[in-house]
Amino acid sequence: MQMLVLLSYLITLVLVESSVYFQEQFTDGDAWKTRWVESKHRSDYGQFVLSAGKFYGDAEQDKGLQTSQDAHFYSSSARFEPFSNQGKTLVIQFTVKHEQNIDCGGGYVKLFPADLDQADMHGDSNYNIMFGPDICGPGTKKVHFIINYKGNNYLINKDIRCKDDEYSHLYTLILNPDNTYEVKIDNKKVESGSLEEDWDILPPKKIKDPEAVKPDDWDERERVEDPDDKKPEDWDRPENIADPDAKKPEDWDDEMDGEWEPPVISNPDYKGEWKPRKIDNSKYQGIWVHPEIDNPDYSSDSEIYSFHSIGVIGLDLWQVKSGTIFDNFLITDDATLAEEVGNDTWGQTKDPEKKMKESQEEHERIQLETEEMSRKEDTKDELEEDKEDEDELDEEDDEDAGEEKEEEVDSIKDEL
Ligand SMILES: *[C@@H]1O[C@H](CO)[C@@H](O)[C@H](O)[C@H]1NC(C)=O
Repeated sequence: MQMLVLLSYLITLVLVESSVYFQEQFTDGDAWKTRWVESKHRSDYGQFVLSAGKFYGDAEQDKGLQTSQDAHFYSSSARFEPFSNQGKTLVIQFTVKHEQNIDCGGGYVKLFPADLDQADMHGDSNYNIMFGPDICGPGTKKVHFIINYKGNNYLINKDIRCKDDEYSHLYTLILNPDNTYEVKIDNKKVESGSLEEDWDILPPKKIKDPEAVKPDDWDERERVEDPDDKKPEDWDRPENIADPDAKKPEDWDDEMDGEWEPPVISNPDYKGEWKPRKIDNSKYQGIWVHPEIDNPDYSSDSEIYSFHSIGVIGLDLWQVKSGTIFDNFLITDDATLAEEVGNDTWGQTKDPEKKMKESQEEHERIQLETEEMSRKEDTKDELEEDKEDEDELDEEDDEDAGEEKEEEVDSIKDEL
């Protein structure tokens, strides 16, 4: 009996065994060049180089593909055994390190169908999914998540913020066969939801009934003027009146100055335009709501998440300031495995990497301070030297003056 339980447990284990479709950690020197194909669509693509960067956790483990030329397009891709994610979870994961303090540039990957011509990969090549950070100035700092559905690319409606510091970050996309998704950064969920709700992929389920029209006599006025309110008899007064206090000057000459008219002032009794008071409208019907009907163009699709062929992962991006390092690519059907791999790669690197950067910065600070101090010393020495020179000159002047005096005295003596 126990044997049977154990056996069925083992079978379950085997059945749920996870698939890793692609994994790339760049730990075998230049061999990555045999796996990654640079597109020839343009002749001026920037070069990816293998590098762990200026600071890292492990000089070998943390090597990845680094963009090496400013203001260039980059376009390289790697192929793997094609698969379909139908009925399965799809996980895309990788690390991005913008160690150059990026101003503007892509940090995302694209998953392509197996029929992609890698040598001709370019911005308009048909892809399945685009995912990862994109930064351009202070305005754009987001995680792209674009899904291709029946030949069209659809952007997520939500705004997912990406990391914009100089450290390594782990980006994970989990696409589930129930048409839900989750986005994680550094192994923490930052967004999740449903493909149908968070993208405008399918037409809306309900539309406004085209047959329904608001009745002409529909009363949407919440308050109306009180018909019983009457303007008081004494309401109307002129806005301006002749100043009653003004007096015709004594020396006013009607013939010379014309007829005297008092100055006009604003009337203190003027009440403005009369308006009847407002009361609640007894016929108020509320704001008319356009009735909705089921959209005849809508049909649900439980397989938005599903791609029949996934066979290439590519970096197809533009960078103004280069230096970004891509590493630890993983495509699998197992979110837990991805989390584990994330822990073993990014998780191991993040603290030592930070420490190294901080100690480099500390080093730099001390060096700057030392330089600054020795510069100050130098200036002080120079000033002192100048001072000494001046003193010497003064002394010489004094000596010269003395000699001159003596000569003068001597010559006078001679004359005498
Ligand atoms: C990854 O690391 C975190 C933090 O240490 C831990 O909570 C989590 O369980 C780990 N995940 C896996 C799958 O090992």
